[in-house]
Amino acid sequence: MNDFDQLVKNAREAFAAALTPADLENAKALFLGKSGRITEMMKGMSSLSVDEKKTMGAAMNLAKQAIEASLGARRVELQQEQLNKQLQAQALDVTLPGRERGQGGLHPVSRTLERVEAIFSSMGFDVAQGPEIETDWFNFTALNTPQDHPARSMHDTFYVEGGTAQAPNLLRTHTSPMQIRYAVQHVKKHRALAGEVLTPDGLFTGDMPEIRVIAPGRTYRVDSDATHSPMFHQCEGLWVGEQVSFKDLKYVFTDFCKTFFESHDLVLRFRPSFFPFTEPSAEIDIQFSSGPLAGRWLEVAGSGQVHPQVIRNMGLDPERYIGFAFGMGPDRLTMLRYGVNDLRLFFDGDIRFLSQFR
Ligand code: DAH
Repeated sequence: MNDFDQLVKNAREAFAAALTPADLENAKALFLGKSGRITEMMKGMSSLSVDEKKTMGAAMNLAKQAIEASLGARRVELQQEQLNKQLQAQALDVTLPGRERGQGGLHPVSRTLERVEAIFSSMGFDVAQGPEIETDWFNFTALNTPQDHPARSMHDTFYVEGGTAQAPNLLRTHTSPMQIRYAVQHVKKHRALAGEVLTPDGLFTGDMPEIRVIAPGRTYRVDSDATHSPMFHQCEGLWVGEQVSFKDLKYVFTDFCKTFFESHDLVLRFRPSFFPFTEPSAEIDIQFSSGPLAGRWLEVAGSGQVHPQVIRNMGLDPERYIGFAFGMGPDRLTMLRYGVNDLRLFFDGDIRFLSQFR
């Protein structure tokens, strides 16, 4: 092997030993740099004859080209290695399953409330909201409930701070106080428009549009078992006008139930009952003629013709205005609609149960 072949061999080895681009540039300087081996050998040629210079020069050029080619090849190799390393470090496994986004949904009772609101809205009812902390007046007294009524006892009602001994504050035990709250506002608005047409005892007896409203929301009682939860839902309904009768109540409520349960296969029964704020009063039961509950009577609401004293407490003349009211349990409706037999499941917050209603 002559000196040139040896030089090329050494250069190749040095380039192969360089593991980074910086190492490679250092190795290049050793052979091709200003004070590298090739430059040194060129300097040594000055003492040679012209012929010797020719052959040596040609051989040296070949060696130089070989070294440059080897350098270029190693450069490409190192770049490729670096790229591979980078690709490996940032590897994407496109076969991994995607990360699922948790999907939320409405609570089944909220679904029921939305349905109830939509159905009654389509029948021309307004939807009203009211406070969950109520006064004794709206929750009981204005609804004609006597002082000694058992519903007012501590066993039944959650009393809360504030108010006075005569007028305590409480968590509303039903949505019925909304009958009074809504009607009072309605009357106030239309009294002014109608020109304050009043009875001698100050009750409004002028013209006004009918009151037609539902009031859904949370209610509270000291009660807890498979069919009672201390917090539960109710939806109140009220229709007051001059010609409103029990017949209208039957029609409206029957139509509501058929739409709600998407079934014409059901019948309603109005069973005589008692509530201080209605006279006469009725409990409403429904019966399906097919499905898992076929043949059983299921109670879904209390109802009745609004008591004249309650009409008075709304600020209206009971000689002119008459109406009906009902209070139903959306929790119960939800249980019936979905075939759930324990009310507490709705309020335990167990996602395995709730996600089935998405
Ligand atoms: N508030 C009654 C209850 O919670 C239900 C009720 C009965 C509401 C008759 C009414 C009604 O509006 O007319 O038991």
